[in-house]
Amino acid sequence: MNLKDYIFCALDFSDLNQTIEFTDIIKNDIGGIKLGLEFFASNGPAGVEKLKKFKLPIFLDLKLHDIPNTVTNTVKNILKLQPDYLTIHLSGGRKMLEEVNKIKKNTKIIGVSMLTSLDKKDLEEIGLELTEKEYVKNLVALGIDAGVDGVVTSPSEAELLRKEFSKKLILVTPGIRLPNTDLNDQKRSQSPGLAIKSGSSMLVIGRPITKSAKPVKIIKLIMKDIEEKIGS
Ligand code: C5P
Repeated sequence: MNLKDYIFCALDFSDLNQTIEFTDIIKNDIGGIKLGLEFFASNGPAGVEKLKKFKLPIFLDLKLHDIPNTVTNTVKNILKLQPDYLTIHLSGGRKMLEEVNKIKKNTKIIGVSMLTSLDKKDLEEIGLELTEKEYVKNLVALGIDAGVDGVVTSPSEAELLRKEFSKKLILVTPGIRLPNTDLNDQKRSQSPGLAIKSGSSMLVIGRPITKSAKPVKIIKLIMKDIEEKIGS
């Protein structure tokens, strides 16, 4: 596997032209693009279609979370876009997850466990007396049982999940930062190399790349960090 294939850039832009121009700069140095709610709310399905010209895998991060009927009908509409990956919240429950997995066609369904911007204090605030690891493990076990292809998790839980669950499970880790750089709003963060070493199969990285004046240089540093930890 080429090291760049691990890197999915989170294109959290509202403007379509800016997204296209930026993708053009980094297209040869990444494994795929992640389009999320910010992009989708502004540009919709037509915007996603426009990004297909780069022939890169598309990770549509819509984090769907609603009653089973609403989510299933939404997924049916989204599948017309044929994204390579689509996210739904594991906390939406078994029925929602099972219904989506029945209709997914060639799109890999990725369940979001606990957002990397949350920590134990946030869990306590909503009355959950579990550690982050226990909460994530419960959600991931449910997701696998209901048929998801992969999960989004903090890199700090990747090692545990890789040991506990199938080698085939796609482990997507956001919250990636190069050592000694800005965490922004991420709380449970880790370096690219350590995340891969812990068992991550896909690194979702946004602001460290998109906010840089030299995005390709940052991607090269990310690859160097991975290489140092796991070898090329
Ligand atoms: O800019 P940054 O690298 O923090 O971006 C992380 C991306 O990953 C964002 O697009 C965010 O929506 C997404 N994400 C996350 N935590 C999750 C799931 C997705 O940060 N648990």
